[in-house]
Amino acid sequence: MRIDGKKGDIKDPSLASEGVRLIEWASREMPVLKLISQRFAKEQPLKGLTLAACLHVTSETANLGLALKAGGANVIMCASNPLSTQDPIAAALAAVYDIPTFAIRGEDNETYYAHLNAVLDERPNMTMDDGADLVATLHTSRTQVLSSIIGGTEETTTGVIRLRSMAAAGKLRYPIIAVNEADTKHMFDNRYGTGQSTLDGITRATNVLWAGKTVVIAGYGWCGRGIASRARGMGAHTVVTEVNPVRALEAVMDGHEVMTMEKAAPIGDIFVTVTGGMAAIDAHHFQVMKDEALVANSGHFIVEINIDALEDLSVEKRAARPMVEQYVMADGRRINLIAEGRLVNLAAAEGHPSAVMDMSFANQALSAEYMAQNHKNIAVGVYDVPTELDQRVASLKLTAMGITMDTLTERQAAYLAGWEAGT
Ligand SMILES: NC(=O)c1ccc[n+]([C@@H]2O[C@H](COP(=O)([O-])OP(=O)(O)OC[C@H]3O[C@@H](n4cnc5c(N)ncnc54)[C@H](O)[C@@H]3O)[C@@H](O)[C@H]2O)c1
Repeated sequence: MRIDGKKGDIKDPSLASEGVRLIEWASREMPVLKLISQRFAKEQPLKGLTLAACLHVTSETANLGLALKAGGANVIMCASNPLSTQDPIAAALAAVYDIPTFAIRGEDNETYYAHLNAVLDERPNMTMDDGADLVATLHTSRTQVLSSIIGGTEETTTGVIRLRSMAAAGKLRYPIIAVNEADTKHMFDNRYGTGQSTLDGITRATNVLWAGKTVVIAGYGWCGRGIASRARGMGAHTVVTEVNPVRALEAVMDGHEVMTMEKAAPIGDIFVTVTGGMAAIDAHHFQVMKDEALVANSGHFIVEINIDALEDLSVEKRAARPMVEQYVMADGRRINLIAEGRLVNLAAAEGHPSAVMDMSFANQALSAEYMAQNHKNIAVGVYDVPTELDQRVASLKLTAMGITMDTLTERQAAYLAGWEAGT
């Protein structure tokens, strides 16, 4: 429902009070972002800038939006995935917190892109993207908006890969900080956040018992490691498929079984893709899967599972549960696709726990501030989060957790910096 012209396009403004409660609840576990927000309110580092945020519209993202607004930014938001929006949050942002928001859970592709374009209509100065759809739109159909942009940030692995391709092809037109590359982002968000919330999404959608199941994880990157270790923690037998020999070896030595998807397909009970690529599960895999296999994706885009092939192979499709579609094969086997093959942790659960998004979004806020202050000296390209910011996020998180650590003595520091001392 369009509200008040520029205030956005959301499902239902009457959900706003529920959204406010959820946003406040999430803030309890986001102490680092709160500290940054308090400093931003005093120093106003983003004053006068219009910031277009294309992110999963969740309670944690709302807290980031409020921190950016506290820093003086004029924030406008849209969804970075058609199925990840929490409608009460979108309602609260637009109706209570004065952050125009264009996001409706379950929106079709046409509406999804109309929402991205609505945000670009505001001629933003900065982009904050998750998956690079906003940046790609800006560089293709909306190039006239590029002149107002000073820089941007990107949240996820897939977005960083796309941006690096754009930069390599000479197509990228402004500097972007790859927030995903911060240690305090991928080591925690991708691993522990995706690990926990992917199991949460599959559990909520199916009520499956993990203990004793064979779980096949495609991709042993940061997300895959987290999902595999959490699944094992729940008592599952874990199988990993990989295309990178080092990652495959790591999975073996971490105690998982490694094999090809062809071998894994007939033995798996639950399949999860987190490759960042396409068709990790393809037609020939569906043809040999067990009856009642559960198939889910937690990678950024829907293409990780070849759903068109599943449609072609099936003779019937029915809604088994709210987030589960059952495809019946010609031989009677049933394959259950969860959350339409979209990011299962966001579509069937609430995404990552707030405590982990605290660090990811602290990196976002500090990177936006860094870009605002330094953009004149930063050439077009894709940049890592400055190490000093990354370390600051870790220190603030430890402090918030009440944990202290050692510091090097002068003697220790001198030893580490020298080369003379040996055996
Ligand atoms: N669900 C979420 O909330 C969430 C959070 C963070 C990242 N992501 C997304 O998850 C995906 C993975 O992210 P990551 O940080 O783990 O990436 P990564 O690059 O660390 O790991 C991906 C792994 O998949 C492997 N791979 C690629 N194609 C494969 C194939 N066909 N079969 C088997 N393995 C294959 C690669 O070799 C690599 O080791 C990305 O799309 C990222 O954007 C999702």
